[in-house]
Amino acid sequence: MTKRKKGEDKDMGKVAIYPGSFDPITYGHIDVVERALEIFDKVIIAIAENEEKRPLFSVEERLQMVKAFFKDTPKVLVDSFKGLLVDYVAKTNAVVILRGLRATSDFEYEFHMASMNRSLNTHLDTLFMMTSKDYFFVSSRTIKEVARLGGGVEGLVPDLVVRRLKEKFKLPVTKKKQIRWDD
Ligand code: PNS
Repeated sequence: MTKRKKGEDKDMGKVAIYPGSFDPITYGHIDVVERALEIFDKVIIAIAENEEKRPLFSVEERLQMVKAFFKDTPKVLVDSFKGLLVDYVAKTNAVVILRGLRATSDFEYEFHMASMNRSLNTHLDTLFMMTSKDYFFVSSRTIKEVARLGGGVEGLVPDLVVRRLKEKFKLPVTKKKQIRWDD
């Protein structure tokens, strides 16, 4: 009989956990999930309930946006967690934490986080995937800033997220003032 490794379940297969704030989810995140599905049988998107980061969207709103995007992808499970990531991972079948890397500037933060998680659970590895070149400049933080200032983020986040951002940052409709240099 073949011994089944942790992370391999007869129903779930090989499972990876993709944790993050997803405030909001971007096509950069989605690209990582889609590529991870080529390697893993299931990807659990685990949304951190990190209120200390003062998220723009509540955990319920973030869950709803991510679930809506992956509603037709049964290989993706969407969940939220409070507290330590390693404790959440222990309740699942996953052994691998999945994270995206956009640039070398991400590396230090990710290296510290992966090292801390590994010291908390020595069996837990973090797998990094390079974000595709089309999205390496996309982050939830810059998406929020651009949207807040009225810039377009279409094509960088799903349409539902574009709509939710517009609702959040609704500004009173004002008549555009024409600026003339000789005023
Ligand atoms: O998308 P983010 O904000 O970079 O994700 C960071 C996240 C949520 C993965 C990280 O902050 C996390 O794992 N939080 C849970 C608390 C925890 O386990 N902290 C110890 C790891 S350093």
